[in-house]
Amino acid sequence: MSEIYNIIDKKKLDIVSKPISEAHGLPNECYNSKEYTLIERKKLFEDKWIVIGVGSSIPDEGDVKPIDLLGIPLLIVRTKNKEIKVFHNICSHRGVKLVKDAGKIRNVMRCSYHSWSYDLEGKLIATPHIGGMNIHQTPEFDKTKK
Ligand code: FES
Repeated sequence: MSEIYNIIDKKKLDIVSKPISEAHGLPNECYNSKEYTLIERKKLFEDKWIVIGVGSSIPDEGDVKPIDLLGIPLLIVRTKNKEIKVFHNICSHRGVKLVKDAGKIRNVMRCSYHSWSYDLEGKLIATPHIGGMNIHQTPEFDKTKK
């Protein structure tokens, strides 16, 4: 809590907890301070489970739904085994967002930048031209070690 007091005067926060006849709402800094937001985000979300969706929003195999969780791009996927998986929605090559809109993926999620491709289990399955023109594999790069 003390780190919050570096951003917001303690008196402004103490008044929030007073009896209703004396209390005020949260100070403006709670809404417009980036530093406060980072502390709040850490305390509320970073070390706890959080609901980001429900299975019924991706009922069929291949359904995908991108989610932005406090600036973290995530992707909810219904796999071919009907499991629900959640991945970072970024390409492991250069970090381009992999899936922009909710929809259905038949077999492969293909990055729009250099066409690296992932299956519905999140496994990297294709790295076109990684070793040069028309050379799609190279011993220096192990696709299983992303
Ligand atoms: S950034 Fe995705 S393939 Fe290059």
